[in-house]
Amino acid sequence: MDSRVLISKPTFEHREDAFGIGHPRPRLSWRFLTPENAEPARDWTQAAYEIEVRHEERSSENSQRYLVASAHSVLVPWPGSSLCSGDAVSVRVRAYAAAEHEQSTPSTATPTEWSPWAQAECTFLSRSDWQAVPIATPCKYEAEQGDPLRPVRFRRSFVLPSDRRVVRARLYVTAHGVYEIYLNESRVGDHVLAPGWTSYHHRLGFQTFDVTSVLLQSNDANNRIAAEVGEGWYAGRMGIRGGRPFNYGTEVSLLAQLEMTLDNGERVVIATGEDWECSSSSIETSEIYNGEVCDLRCEQWDWKKSASDHIVEHDSGWIAVKTLPFPTARIFSTDHPPIRVTEEIWPTAIITSPSGKLILDFGQNLVGVPCIKHVPPSTKITLRHAEVLEDGELGVRPLRGAKCTDVIRTGERGVYNWTPKFTFHGFRFIQVDGWDHSPLCPGDIIAKVLHTDMQRRGWFKCSDPLVNRLHENIVWSMRGNFLSVPTDCPQRDERLGWTGDIQVFGPTANFLYNTVAILSNWLEDLDAEQMVNPSGIPGLVVPDVMGDFWTPTPQAVWHDAVILTPWNLYEASEDKEILRRQYPGMVRWLREAIRRGDDGLWDPDIWQLGDWVDPAAPPGEPGSGRTDGVLVADAYLVHVTFIMANICAVLDLAQEHEQYASEAALLRETFQHKYITPLGNLANYTQAAIALAVQFNLYSSLAQLETARKSLARLVKAAKFHVSTGFAGTPMILPALVTTAQTSLAYRMLMEKHCPSWLYPVTMGATTIWERWDALLPDGSLNPGQMLSFNHYAFGAVGNWLHSTVGGISSCDGWRTILVRPIPGGGLAFANVAFEGPYGRVECSWSVESGTFHLKLLVPANTIADITLPSRTAFPVNSVPQIVGSGSHIFSVPYEGETWPPAPAPASYSGIRGKICDCP
Ligand code: BGC
Repeated sequence: MDSRVLISKPTFEHREDAFGIGHPRPRLSWRFLTPENAEPARDWTQAAYEIEVRHEERSSENSQRYLVASAHSVLVPWPGSSLCSGDAVSVRVRAYAAAEHEQSTPSTATPTEWSPWAQAECTFLSRSDWQAVPIATPCKYEAEQGDPLRPVRFRRSFVLPSDRRVVRARLYVTAHGVYEIYLNESRVGDHVLAPGWTSYHHRLGFQTFDVTSVLLQSNDANNRIAAEVGEGWYAGRMGIRGGRPFNYGTEVSLLAQLEMTLDNGERVVIATGEDWECSSSSIETSEIYNGEVCDLRCEQWDWKKSASDHIVEHDSGWIAVKTLPFPTARIFSTDHPPIRVTEEIWPTAIITSPSGKLILDFGQNLVGVPCIKHVPPSTKITLRHAEVLEDGELGVRPLRGAKCTDVIRTGERGVYNWTPKFTFHGFRFIQVDGWDHSPLCPGDIIAKVLHTDMQRRGWFKCSDPLVNRLHENIVWSMRGNFLSVPTDCPQRDERLGWTGDIQVFGPTANFLYNTVAILSNWLEDLDAEQMVNPSGIPGLVVPDVMGDFWTPTPQAVWHDAVILTPWNLYEASEDKEILRRQYPGMVRWLREAIRRGDDGLWDPDIWQLGDWVDPAAPPGEPGSGRTDGVLVADAYLVHVTFIMANICAVLDLAQEHEQYASEAALLRETFQHKYITPLGNLANYTQAAIALAVQFNLYSSLAQLETARKSLARLVKAAKFHVSTGFAGTPMILPALVTTAQTSLAYRMLMEKHCPSWLYPVTMGATTIWERWDALLPDGSLNPGQMLSFNHYAFGAVGNWLHSTVGGISSCDGWRTILVRPIPGGGLAFANVAFEGPYGRVECSWSVESGTFHLKLLVPANTIADITLPSRTAFPVNSVPQIVGSGSHIFSVPYEGETWPPAPAPASYSGIRGKICDCP
């Protein structure tokens, strides 16, 4: 037995839990763990693996073992026969180390211990599995004035044979809208706002639950299945400029199928259809932007209770449903985790505002819903949410047309633990109106944090508390904006899947959490929408609810997500299937959708969002920064064409690879000709332009790069180390300073505390990343601009630099090779990063003590680390990398850091456009 490593429970596709999986041949992955009290295995690589598959119900081939000579341990092909709907399997794995002696084969080598068994169960794999049809209320919808739809309740009772036992019961469910479903009063699952937001015209996700234990089977026991459906993203107001209702349809509906197997093998199906009844909910309205209004004065408290012990006192208001045709969209089992309550937060202060309002401060800007512990009888409480205070009052201006208000009203009966069901808010503060019955105490109203419950993967810490808070703010902004789809912001009347925002934030997000399933789902929507657009242009937001507000115009940086986001996911996961699936859309983007000038670069007459929210842009014109949007677009075009060549290489498309590579080289030359002088001066003399040119390798010689280096240094010093970049330049500026061997300037920018800078918001008490560098002005007042979100992850793209350069780890091949490149600086005494990756845990910790750099590195089995230790290098950086295998490694090298802090600009500078603070 090889006891040097333990194999984790295998996982199926990108699922964290494989119950209800929708893949007939799920790929399998396992991680390598270190046995307790043992040293991490040294140089351990896998030569073969053995998978045992146990079919829970197929006795003929109950258990099969498959021995495969392969080093792969991530997303390996399904070894057995394809699974069918409802098939349940258990899978375990063991691995064989590559032998020290080349002759030995898996059969002569000793395997590891078997992994624990992992269970998977296939859900409906085919449309024909559905007997259910969607049901809706026959009452006319209230859409005349675009009013929100009142949530609808659906239910059905049924009796099970009392002489038979139900051995298995599964509930398959989805909705046009957002649903909560109950069986005999028990809430099924802990999903919030299910089934989540997809491009419903094309794709509709469903969920599968095991409900065997909640069925009632005694004599005459009447079971009741009941559900409530709100308008959600399906029919609710969504979009820009206030949005519009009914983006996908004008009525909500429920699609559910309960399948039970009795102990004699008989199958009983209860499916939504005409034998269901419906009624309107006690929730009057529940909208994503505006919040929820719930009136319990006429509540029918037992509407979901099983009928046998239910005294039929009040069943009026229930009418027969109408049935609707089965959705034409592709119906699929959702792979990414659901939205869940992931944390509960108590207020840190209760404030009385200058006008006498009661305001709760949660001390953290978050996304979620409030929960009121007890609303007494005959009470009306109104909760208004906001991210900031303005002059001591609730600051609602940034919310624009979103009311973000919940109202709960009780009648004769009070209610405990009331929380709105079909909305969410981005807030730190709640104004409480109508709380007259007792003094308000902190536990009376708490906040429930909501987001897609992805697994946390990456952690970062260093010796500077402000940088640590910046990192924490990035994590909070990611949590708040990964709610079913990756959004720009979670609070105002927008909350959309802006392509540009996730394009720039993707690499940071992929390190912090396991994003593969949620982003890959989002990319499928992007693709579905792009493919039906005759112009080949994807949505600027996905799912696309722009309506008539936007005449589809191709946009660099944003639409480049078509290529860059799948590429970044591939780098994080090594999943070629994502690239294969998205490839036709990438080709359409490059070949048909981009509008080009005669030179093959972008048509310069198209307006580009460009370096959006450059701090120098006027508050009302975030696109009018100092860097030319066309140059930004052209730089991106060269880059994405090179990435496309890489993608073709990964997909073994040799001819296409050649073609894109030579096209990219030609575009690069055209770019050089158009923008770069022979001496290396770039036509646009800005931090963003030069940083992009450096990072996208657009200079033709080291001499030109040297000019770029000096230009960047001058610009950074002239700006007194303030950030001078927007969406496009921000992820690039610090890496560009490192590429040009000016680490101390990069650190100096990172450490700057005056506005605009990364740490300025931290010094102003920010707990999330802001949309604008100066969302809050130094005097504490709100920026006068219209776009004023305090929870926007885009500028948190600096996280990628913190992880890869300060912390020192990154990967381009799904963490099979760990690139270790820590670059100390900024006076930091230490930095630690940890990453629970596809192969196992990676840790990298460094410290600098009296002229020596110490590095401690943990490399998981079956991977290698490619290490470049820091030294005071000349330009260009040319230290020799060193490769090590798995295990725990320690290095110490003499280290003389760059001069810290770096010298400021030689002469005093008269002030930059957009400079707001008075720092010296
Ligand atoms: C969003 C941004 C987005 C931008 C592009 C804004 O309203 O909040 O994050 O990328 O529009 O136009």
